[in-house]
Amino acid sequence: MFTNFPLWPERASTIAGNVDALFIFLLIVSGLITLLIFVCLVYFAARYRYRPGVLAEQIEGSTPLELTWSIIPLFVFVVIFFWGAVVFFKERTPPADATEVYVVAKQWMWKLEHAEGQREINELHVPVGRDVKMIMTSQDVIHSFFIPAFRIKQDVLPGRYTVAWFRATKPGTYHLFCAEYCGTQHSGMIGSIVVQEPAQYEAWMNGGSTGPLSASGEKIFAELGCVTCHRTDGQGRGPNLQGVFGKPVLLEDGRTVTADENYIRESILDPGAKIVNGYKPVMPTFQGLVSEEQLNALVAYVKSLAQASPGQASSKASASTDALQSKGSQVE
Ligand code: CUA
Repeated sequence: MFTNFPLWPERASTIAGNVDALFIFLLIVSGLITLLIFVCLVYFAARYRYRPGVLAEQIEGSTPLELTWSIIPLFVFVVIFFWGAVVFFKERTPPADATEVYVVAKQWMWKLEHAEGQREINELHVPVGRDVKMIMTSQDVIHSFFIPAFRIKQDVLPGRYTVAWFRATKPGTYHLFCAEYCGTQHSGMIGSIVVQEPAQYEAWMNGGSTGPLSASGEKIFAELGCVTCHRTDGQGRGPNLQGVFGKPVLLEDGRTVTADENYIRESILDPGAKIVNGYKPVMPTFQGLVSEEQLNALVAYVKSLAQASPGQASSKASASTDALQSKGSQVE
């Protein structure tokens, strides 16, 4: 009956049902309260209408009544708050083993690059039933990555990474929109998410790869000369990057930060911002020297160093990474 007039966008991700359930709950609560107000309005208007010879009786307040209309809504709002928080945190927390896709937004297109090296424009191929994490940034202004069928929307900002994730549940092609006004062609900044069966996806993946993103990153790392300071034997002027990603890093000023995507990005563009304890602020900035795509490749490379076998440099950090990984494979 509603095939040409759907009340909801298609539900094609694991989170979609949760978001819809909350939305329907809000709709029902608002509807019931609206109804209640209108019924009371009509009833009181009739009951206390003006009649000749009858004087209005003044009521000075009623504590039980005021408590009732304060406490009942309080409970309703607390339910909405906790339910909303649960859905929010679920949607905001990508699973650790998610497949990664780097997204660069620009006026007016989406550039997407798989960790395995496939590049796409305004189109993203993903397999059904796998967690996919988008690591996103913008080359110019603020955009917003919006897939209605998956019920996810995340602003994409210049100068830093934001993250979104989903797990598609149904093969098909779904709309991708930019949901932040970003200039004259904003409405044309659209694309599609192609969800495929794993076998189909594998076939698509094997066509025309340029090699893993981390391999391009390794090349850039060598070309820019990073490798001369960030030596794997720990004797370089910069920290050894093996096993660093995802770990806490002690800074010169005593703070400890986690080496995540934004930290790596900042360390490349603004090396003086966070100096690792025991090192000197000698690294030059690479602001303007690397494109967003090259930055993504470098981040992917540093990330891959956390997983790669440490080789001769068997520091404590890489040893614990290995321990974690063997733990992970046992769970699988
Ligand atoms: Cu990009 Cu609107």
